[in-house]
Amino acid sequence: MTLLLKSESDDAASWLAALQKHLPGRDIRVWPDSGDAADIRYALVWHPPPGLLASLPNLEAIFSVGAGIDHIAADPQRPGHLPVIRMVEEGLTTGMTEFVVMQVLFHHRDMLSYRHQAEECRWREITAVPASERRIGILGLGVLGRAAAEKLAGFGFDVAGWSRSPKQVPGVTSYHGEAGLGAMLARTDILVCLLPLTDETEGLLNARLLAQLPRGACLINVARGGHQVEADLLAALESGQLKEATLDVFQEEPLPPDSPLWRHPQVIITPHIAAQTMPDTAAQSVAQNIARIESGQAPLNVVDFGRGY
Ligand SMILES: NC(=O)c1ccc[n+]([C@@H]2O[C@H](COP(=O)([O-])OP(=O)(O)OC[C@H]3O[C@@H](n4cnc5c(N)ncnc54)[C@H](OP(=O)(O)O)[C@@H]3O)[C@@H](O)[C@H]2O)c1
Repeated sequence: MTLLLKSESDDAASWLAALQKHLPGRDIRVWPDSGDAADIRYALVWHPPPGLLASLPNLEAIFSVGAGIDHIAADPQRPGHLPVIRMVEEGLTTGMTEFVVMQVLFHHRDMLSYRHQAEECRWREITAVPASERRIGILGLGVLGRAAAEKLAGFGFDVAGWSRSPKQVPGVTSYHGEAGLGAMLARTDILVCLLPLTDETEGLLNARLLAQLPRGACLINVARGGHQVEADLLAALESGQLKEATLDVFQEEPLPPDSPLWRHPQVIITPHIAAQTMPDTAAQSVAQNIARIESGQAPLNVVDFGRGY
């Protein structure tokens, strides 16, 4: 069994070590040193160059290095008959939960206002709101959205989530489908986006959606830049409809230097780092799925291209 790894060039060594640990005795190759393409049965990829997957004649399964698979779906030559397996692993989920909780607390406790006050050496107390009175709305109650929702509920926040199908998450109010979206937005002070990027969710964070939030709400987008219409976000920030935003993802990445988002005083920007796949736990997850495939079981976390995630 040969596995081809195509990751970011600067993290290949840690991936290789983790894969060798969890797939002992297997042949692991790092793209572009693929050797004989006919040997390769599994590909573990991040932004594969278009045509790479199609050039592997004996490929059996495609693993995504990240939770999102839009980078694989973007390849017009992707062999459509092969299962694409998205990354579900403890390290990634923990990292996303940390980031979302950190940002929710940051907005909840008015840290951006205190930072601006500090720039002016201004000593002024802002009246705090109890967590039980702060309404959090999470778009997407999948692996990552659910984990974040559960932790936030543990802080005592009033948490709701929105998904395609109804969910039962202790301490979290579930809204679903098109009909449920408006109701959740209307009761949301801090909106977190953790949706996959699909035809249905692209551009969802637009003027129409933002207008349904209570005035002065905050937005945290840790999903994909394709979800947000940046001109609409800027307009909502200017009008005060949005008070603050944390953006980890952008329509164009890296965010161009001339984007007004970089310098906007009400925006926190991070370079798509909300959650990073952790090679050790990720390699373990890949190895478990390969063991399933090789024992004739269906792999876990296979993407349904019919619904787009
Ligand atoms: N910024 C970063 O560093 C980073 C890192 C990792 C992941 N991400 C992003 O996070 C996304 C979510 O990951 P995940 O593992 O949590 O995905 P997931 O387990 O597939 O969950 C997706 C959730 O979105 C819901 N959903 C999808 N389409 C919908 C629609 N049209 N209307 C309503 N709800 C919809 C699903 O509803 P159902 O449950 O009803 O199916 C599900 O609850 C990834 O796709 C990726 O883009 C970002």
